[in-house]
Amino acid sequence: MDQRAPQSDIDLSVTIAGIVLKNPVMLASGTWGYGEEISSLLDLSQLGAVITKGISLQPSCGNPPPRIVETPSGMLNAIGLQNVGFAEFVEKKLPFLRQFHIPVIVNFFGKTAGEYTELGKRLSAVEGIAGLEVNISCPNIKEGGIFFGTEPARAHELISAVRKATSLPLIVKLSPNVTDIARIARSVEEAGADALSLTNTFTGMVVDVETCAPVLAHSTGGLSGPAIRPLSLRMVWETVNAVSIPVIGIGGIMEAADALQYLITGARAVQIGTALFIRPDAPLRIIEGIEAYLRHKGCSTLQEIIGCLKVK
Ligand SMILES: Cc1cc2nc3c(=O)[nH]c(=O)nc-3n(C[C@H](O)[C@H](O)[C@H](O)COP(=O)(O)O)c2cc1C
Repeated sequence: MDQRAPQSDIDLSVTIAGIVLKNPVMLASGTWGYGEEISSLLDLSQLGAVITKGISLQPSCGNPPPRIVETPSGMLNAIGLQNVGFAEFVEKKLPFLRQFHIPVIVNFFGKTAGEYTELGKRLSAVEGIAGLEVNISCPNIKEGGIFFGTEPARAHELISAVRKATSLPLIVKLSPNVTDIARIARSVEEAGADALSLTNTFTGMVVDVETCAPVLAHSTGGLSGPAIRPLSLRMVWETVNAVSIPVIGIGGIMEAADALQYLITGARAVQIGTALFIRPDAPLRIIEGIEAYLRHKGCSTLQEIIGCLKVK
């Protein structure tokens, strides 16, 4: 597998919430383990940044299996935020990621507002974390997560509290399972978020017609992959038109042209998730493809195409 650094006369760098990325391509939370699992298949040092698996104060074993099922052009998962918990993450997982000298952005969540703020405070005291991504959008847990991300006032209250608890760059990850993404986005911006990432997965369901039961033990799960790309892209568009903080586009990005759709629409960077299950080196091909596109368009910096959407 060719993992050469893209040698470049083109400036792919971008700054988000004060975090300088050498290119706009990051790994999405929960889709690549903690780093060791993917590092033999993907040179992490080439990436713009990584977003870690969602961390909670205490370890969690998530939902019972089956918790993943393939769907047309995508997959449905109900992992339920299984994670090793704050202490083990800091002691055993973070040191491995630091060796790649790229920004490590820690995704986290809580069951209550108090857990969110406590974790925000604890993570702020840890060395080697470039920023935080607050998950208020997981559809697969009973408490916390999406409860905070579907109602503007609740999202505002939570993010205001987390903002007070940390001075690290604060990215808030939004749920697509809402009717008005712009309202949530504005309330989170007003509460002090430095950037937004969207979307998380769309709630969905698959039924086994033989057993007449849902395939997932949790009944419903979160849909990701190319199936959601046009939906996520539309929400990114609505969001960039509603806020002035940077937006990170996520959803079904498999190749450079997909990432470019988000960048042209106004996302400052992108995250890659489900594509890693098919081609773990997809992010490197995407970085190279973005660079080739810029060259083809006669651009010398990524900035020239961000938000260059021509609406008819
Ligand atoms: C197996 C799996 C686990 C995920 N775990 C998390 C998580 O812990 N925290 C989070 O914020 N998002 C999580 N996500 C959502 C992804 O980060 C991403 O927002 C979503 O999959 C859409 O991007 P994609 O279509 O490129 O996969 C998970 C997604 C998948 C498929």
